[in-house]
Amino acid sequence: MKRTIQVKEVPNLKEAAKRELNVKPEFIYQSVEIDDTMKSIGKNKKFFVRTYGCQGNLRDGEVIEGILARMQFEKTEDMNEADVIILNTCAVRENAEKKVFGEIGLLKKLKLANPDLIFGVCGCMVQQEHIVKRILETCEHVDLVFGTHNIHHLPTLLKEAYFSKERVVEVLSNQGNIAEDLPSIRASKTKAWVNIMYGCNKFCTYCIVPYTRGKERSRKSIDILNEVQELKDAGYKEITVLGQNVNAYGKDLNDISFAKLLEKIALIGIDRIRFTTSHPWDFSDELIDVIAKYDNIMPHIHLPVQSGDDDILRRMGRRYNSKTYLELVDKIRSKIKDVAITTDIIVGFPNESEENFENTMKLAEKVRYDGAFTFIYSPRVGTPAAKLKDNVDMKTKKERFNRLTDLISKIQLEIYKKYQDKIVYVLVDGYSKTNDTILSGYTEDMKLVNFKGNAKFIGQIVPVMITNCKTFTLEGEMVETRCLNNQ
Ligand code: 5AD
Ligand code: SF4
Repeated sequence: MKRTIQVKEVPNLKEAAKRELNVKPEFIYQSVEIDDTMKSIGKNKKFFVRTYGCQGNLRDGEVIEGILARMQFEKTEDMNEADVIILNTCAVRENAEKKVFGEIGLLKKLKLANPDLIFGVCGCMVQQEHIVKRILETCEHVDLVFGTHNIHHLPTLLKEAYFSKERVVEVLSNQGNIAEDLPSIRASKTKAWVNIMYGCNKFCTYCIVPYTRGKERSRKSIDILNEVQELKDAGYKEITVLGQNVNAYGKDLNDISFAKLLEKIALIGIDRIRFTTSHPWDFSDELIDVIAKYDNIMPHIHLPVQSGDDDILRRMGRRYNSKTYLELVDKIRSKIKDVAITTDIIVGFPNESEENFENTMKLAEKVRYDGAFTFIYSPRVGTPAAKLKDNVDMKTKKERFNRLTDLISKIQLEIYKKYQDKIVYVLVDGYSKTNDTILSGYTEDMKLVNFKGNAKFIGQIVPVMITNCKTFTLEGEMVETRCLNNQ
């Protein structure tokens, strides 16, 4: 029998595309309200949250877990024993969406075995009306659908799903507010993500993010700095400052610039500070100077180029060309010692010619990236690029993709080989994913290092002598028995 659906709000991509200057975000403090019926609803119950996609989404996953823990649910890694399952989804490419629908299908048997299970789907994917429609029509076992703007409503939404036995949908397409005082269960005790802003106003023509994440809006610097101070006091060694485009920080608030914010964060004194992502268009000289000045701002810049061809860049709406991008790279390299630069590249944008593609190859050869995430273009419903008729077949796109990744890997190996017999400083994350006698962690310039070492150094920054260089990893041995910052 079909259950009734309590539709509080469904998404609307046209609404989500609005950017009204006079609409200011609301700052909601103490944003998570839990009423008496929900305060201990999770006692003796467990939750399982699976997150797909970017670091922003991973951070949302931590917040979802924190909210569930406040209602006394306990975290489990085994979805078979969970009383609440939440899939926190990504919409950036079709592949991510396919995986989620695959997983939703597999979870049907858990719901059949345990009708009291609450199964929720949230995140970027359900900010799209066609996806919500498909879930409501074909995935009867999904109880709860909520979006990226209203995670702090989870206690109320969960209450309705528990007690009404209806399916509950609340996906807002407003331009977004700022919820503060969010609880969270952080994934690591040494490395933390800190959101400094939400949303994106760039509207690159291929990208769904501005529609799923709303308007660019910055957190107040005081709230960010307080969070960073708390992390430092709790012993965190590294923070990564997050935003779709951190360079736009503060522009909506008339607060300080991103460069000033980063400087204030550096002065708090956490050992390692990273940031992502930076749009090349508004990467300021002031920012380069701040990164160069502070030793605890790591010398790694992720600078998505997307294409090396000026015609494609224009059609992508990227606001820079290959010349201005290369000038920025030169400026960064001339001012920041030993800086690593990585990027994102999309292959097969609609009607990309062989010549357009060759220009991307040439740019990659000129920049010599320390690493790159490469993607085949994936049309996203509602974006301008998705309306373009494409004359390039998938076989050609795949063949270009392979040529590009071969080139990037070749250059990356050449760069990694320069680390042979050098000492690097590694923040030890834990055991390597594939071998539990080997420790692993990242260098200051974001190279993954696997090395033999003692587990007592997990969470510390240690010197490692590099003995072998591979394309994506370095291998080595710890050079001192005592840890540098724990002497
Ligand atoms: N198709 C392929 N890749 C995409 N990205 C964003 N939108 C698309 C799309 N429609 C890539 C961009 C971006 C990264 C996060 O994902 O390279 O920088
Ligand atoms: Fe998407 Fe462009 Fe915004 Fe990045 S800057 S999130 S690619 S629209």
